[in-house]
Formats: sequence, C-alpha cells, structure tokens
Amino acid sequence: MGSEVKEAPIRVLVTGGSGLVGKAIEHVVQREGGKLEGEEWIFLSSKDANLVDAGQTRAVFEKYRPTHVIHLAAKVGGLYLHMRQNLQFLRDNIKINDNVLQTAHEFGVTKVVSCLSSCIFPDETTYPINETMIHDGPPHDSNFGYSHAKRMIDVQNRAYYRQYGRCYTAVIPTNVFGPYDNFNIENGHVLSALINKTHKAKKEGTPLNVCGSGTPRRQFIYSLDLGRLIIWALRKYKEIDPIIMSVGEEDEVSIKEAVEMIVAALDFKGTIFDTTLSDGQLKKTANNAKLRRYLPDFPFTPLKEAIRMTCDWFVENYDIART
Ligand SMILES: NC(=O)c1ccc[n+]([C@@H]2O[C@H](COP(=O)([O-])OP(=O)(O)OC[C@H]3O[C@@H](n4cnc5c(N)ncnc54)[C@H](OP(=O)(O)O)[C@@H]3O)[C@@H](O)[C@H]2O)c1
Repeated sequence: MGSEVKEAPIRVLVTGGSGLVGKAIEHVVQREGGKLEGEEWIFLSSKDANLVDAGQTRAVFEKYRPTHVIHLAAKVGGLYLHMRQNLQFLRDNIKINDNVLQTAHEFGVTKVVSCLSSCIFPDETTYPINETMIHDGPPHDSNFGYSHAKRMIDVQNRAYYRQYGRCYTAVIPTNVFGPYDNFNIENGHVLSALINKTHKAKKEGTPLNVCGSGTPRRQFIYSLDLGRLIIWALRKYKEIDPIIMSVGEEDEVSIKEAVEMIVAALDFKGTIFDTTLSDGQLKKTANNAKLRRYLPDFPFTPLKEAIRMTCDWFVENYDIART
C-alpha cells in the first residue's frame, strides 16, 4: 500500500462574488493564475442565495461544501440611504455575517476572510488609524448601523477562535475602485461617481461640476490589487486580528488630484469645483505598516494608471456598468 497522504480538495466560496471586489478576485483567479492546481472557486451573487436568510445560506453551503470562504457580501449603499435606513443596514448585515460565519463553522470551513471597511473606525480619532483602533469609540453617525454590524465580524472572529480555534479573520480596505464598481452619480463611491459624471459632461458638452473644494484627501486602492491581497490573506495570513489593506500614507491624494487624473484619462476640459457644497471628512488616513511588514514589496498599481484602466473599462462597458 502506498503511504501517500492525499490532501482534501480546496473549494473556495466567495460570497458577494458579483460585486466590485468579487469580480476583481475572479479576474485574478481566472486570468492571472491566482487559482492553484486542484482548487475550485465558486463566486456567489444574491441570486444564488439571499444570505440574510439562514435556510438559504445553509442550502448554498450544502450545495458547494466549501473548505475556505472569502466573505464579501454586504448590504452597502450611498450616504443618504445609510442615513435613512440605519436599522435595516444593521439588521441585514448582522444576519448576513452571522449566517455566513456560523454556517462556515458548522460545515468545518478551515479559513474565512471577511471584509470590513475603513469607514467603520471611530468618528473622533487620531490619524493615521490602525488595526487596533476599530472599537475605540462610536463610528460616524451617518452609517452607524452598517459600521456596528461590520465591527461585530471582528468580535465574532475572536470568539470563533477562542471557543473553537477557528482561523476566521478580516481585512480592512480603504476606498476601493475599479471595473464593476457602482458608477451611480448619486450613490456610487466618489471616484467611480466622478468618472461617470465626467463621461456624461463630455458627452453632453457641459462643464463638470465637482461637489466641494477638492481638498479632502483619500487613499484609493485598485480593486485588482485588493483582489490579489485578499487571495494572499486567504493563503498566508494566519492572524485573527484584522489587517488594513491600503496604499501608504504617502500615496494619499486630494479629490482635486484624483479629478485631474480622471479628466486626463477621459480627455475632458472644463472642471468647476462647487465650494458652496460640503467637503465631508477632510481625511481618514489609514496606516498600512502591518501589511508592509508582511509584504514590503507588494507593487500597488500607480493611481494614475489604475484610474485610466477603470475609465477605459467604464467607456467600453457602459451598457453593462452599474450607473
Ligand atoms: N467598495 C469599497 O470602497 C469598499 C471599501 C471597504 C470595504 N468594502 C467591503 O467590501 C465588500 C465588497 O464590497 P463591494 O464594493 O464589492 O460591494 P458591491 O459591489 O456592492 O457588491 C456587493 C455584493 O454583495 C452581494 N450581496 C448583497 N446583499 C446580499 C444578500 N442579501 N445575500 C447575498 N449576497 C448579497 C451582492 O450580490 P448582487 O450582485 O446579487 O446584488 C454583491 O455581490 C463589502 O463587504 C464591503 O463592505 C468595500
């Protein structure tokens, strides 16, 4: 008899697989050799299972029997929707996260990487923010429902480890953008909404009106970079404590600089900054020192190049883009 020990096949289930981050991971897996031999990757959308529902969550785990889970699914929305529906965001996300984590545990899933967000950090804090500060004070009032539900993932991860020794962890991305983002001008994330707005202004021959002075500063991460980093975390990151996934503080840019990159990529002239409108938070700087300790040489795509690729994708895929 041979003494070979056969390793169990790896099946990675990605919840939220049809969204911005899920599509980026799918690209890395299928087109950049991110998938290793013998692995099977399954990308779910809400059509496969409404994860708010425990029965549907169980059924989808029963169907695919994953060994690993990347948990991205979340009820997300623009500022005004959050302000109107904090309770709904709280309840839906608590249910989604609890269903996914508990079902993963019951099915013996060995590793779960969930996605938090840098917008869940305390509203009043010192900068730069780091991974140890998540629970140090109330989140911003506008999206407290979403933020508390997301913070609970970190609490749950520690409890699953303490009680069952599970390696369930989380990543904390800053502002993500890229192909398949929500480009809606009212509800989309700032960069993608601005890409759509610029494209529209160019088509209609009108000026581009940017809300606010353009001075707030942000760290943007290209979705494909985040996809590569999440796959690294699934394979190599052994801590339960979360890890910030962001470009460095030195790569933070003002909204004005980002707009300049967008108008250059779309070859547009005629931008106006409407300084009568509110600027929002001036900065939310996150520290990526922990990520850099693990991956000192990870090559983030330069912002200008990532914006150009996203603009190209948006123009080419306008018919299918979420606008
Ligand atoms: N985008 C950012 O800047 C950012 C920053 C930090 C953290 N994050 C986090 O990253 C994760 C992915 O975000 P994203 O930007 O990729 O979001 P997204 O593009 O809006 O995608 C959301 C995904 O979740 C799925 N989903 C929503 N409700 C669901 C439900 N009830 N049951 C099952 N699936 C459901 C959606 O499925 P359908 O396509 O079928 O609707 C979609 O696949 C989220 O956890 C988010 O909080 C995002």
